Amino acid sequence: MKTLLRGRVLSFHAEPKGIDDQQSYLYLEDGALLVENGKIIACDDFEALIRQHKSDLDDLTLIDHRPHLLMPGFIDPHLHFPQVQVIASWGAQLLDWLNNYTFPQEALYEDPSHSKAMAKAFFDELIRHGTTSAVAYCSVHRQSAEAFFTEASARNMRMIGGKVMMDRNAPDSVLDTPRSGYDDSKALIDAWHGKGRNLYAITPRFAITSTPEQLEATGQLVKDHPDCHIQTHLSENMDEIAFTKSLYPDAKDYLGIYEDYGLLSEKILLGHCIHLEPREIEVLADTDARPVFCPTSNLFLGSGLFNDAGLREKGITNAIATDIGGGTSYSMLQTLNEGYKILQLRGQKLDPLRAFYWITKGNAEALGLQSQIGTLEEGSEADIVVLDSASTPAMALRMQKAEKLSEELFILQIMGDDRAIAETYVAGVPQKSKLQGMDA
Ligand code: GUN
Ligand code: ZN
Repeated sequence: MKTLLRGRVLSFHAEPKGIDDQQSYLYLEDGALLVENGKIIACDDFEALIRQHKSDLDDLTLIDHRPHLLMPGFIDPHLHFPQVQVIASWGAQLLDWLNNYTFPQEALYEDPSHSKAMAKAFFDELIRHGTTSAVAYCSVHRQSAEAFFTEASARNMRMIGGKVMMDRNAPDSVLDTPRSGYDDSKALIDAWHGKGRNLYAITPRFAITSTPEQLEATGQLVKDHPDCHIQTHLSENMDEIAFTKSLYPDAKDYLGIYEDYGLLSEKILLGHCIHLEPREIEVLADTDARPVFCPTSNLFLGSGLFNDAGLREKGITNAIATDIGGGTSYSMLQTLNEGYKILQLRGQKLDPLRAFYWITKGNAEALGLQSQIGTLEEGSEADIVVLDSASTPAMALRMQKAEKLSEELFILQIMGDDRAIAETYVAGVPQKSKLQGMDA
């Protein structure tokens, strides 16, 4: 059985060089996507596709999304699954926020039934906000990662996740040991990495919560599983950096710690990377490590202003993400909105073409998954978001004056949220309209 989705089609094939770079994308005013077995098998003008498939039209389910925009599902490469009830916790910067709010909530994920219920809620939110792939930290408990991958599998989503490894500077209820962190991570890799659409990320939380022994064991895991991603945090907050340096006095700098344990390559995602020293920037470039910009979190926790252009000019590939629950919205559109403002304060510009490239193909490239997700090209996995640019009265009013595609995209970038997501397809199957209480 094939499905034909009709609408305005937009997919990027290269990073836009500016707001007028029409070479960087495919835009079809009356386009269509032909989907079969979870993959996009054709992307073309509607009339052309209908002509080509005249003989098997009876076999086609046609879904007409006009006048909405069809784009690849959004990719959120840094967020914390056990922080769904931490989001919007008042009045603290990073270290107090972790101790006062985050660790106590993460402790609850020892209970498999809590993990299971929260995994369901977490994935519902991703779908509601048009996010079809994500890279998530689970809690320290193996059962939280089991719940994460079980739910991702039930929904057939391309998901990357990992059990956090942390063996000091937190309550006992959220600590493992170098041995158990290694063994549990390995067991999870064996059970889930490459199973269905799941991938595993080796996940040392950050240097403050890992002893040298644990980072040694992490390095071994990375060596044993070179095709797994790795995720951790780097240089988010000044007090964090000072504490980290006091714990690893022999390291050249913060990034030097991860470097010393063999963690750096194009597989590592480094959350935040705000307050970097020149040597650290050189090492990021040399190792092809991937910084992840988390705008709503960086503003909410008062962490600082990410220097996107400064890293890009060194050839570094930056990703962009929500960082729930330090981040304040599941919406990648709202993430772009706040990202635009942070870069304004830096004297930099986030134009709408690059913004939408970033949360689709750009993030896919940062993950090395560009041949599977992030585009609507033939052969891609059929994760698709349907965008309604006039989803609120204020947006509809503003849209009356939009003359160009880039203007429409900027309205979505600044004003859009979950209401702008008319539908979310995962592997070719509509998911958002299935959610209870859904009004799209
Ligand atoms: N650094 C270490 N853990 C965390 C976390 O959970 N959130 C954020 N924003 N930074 C961290
Ligand atoms: Zn984080």
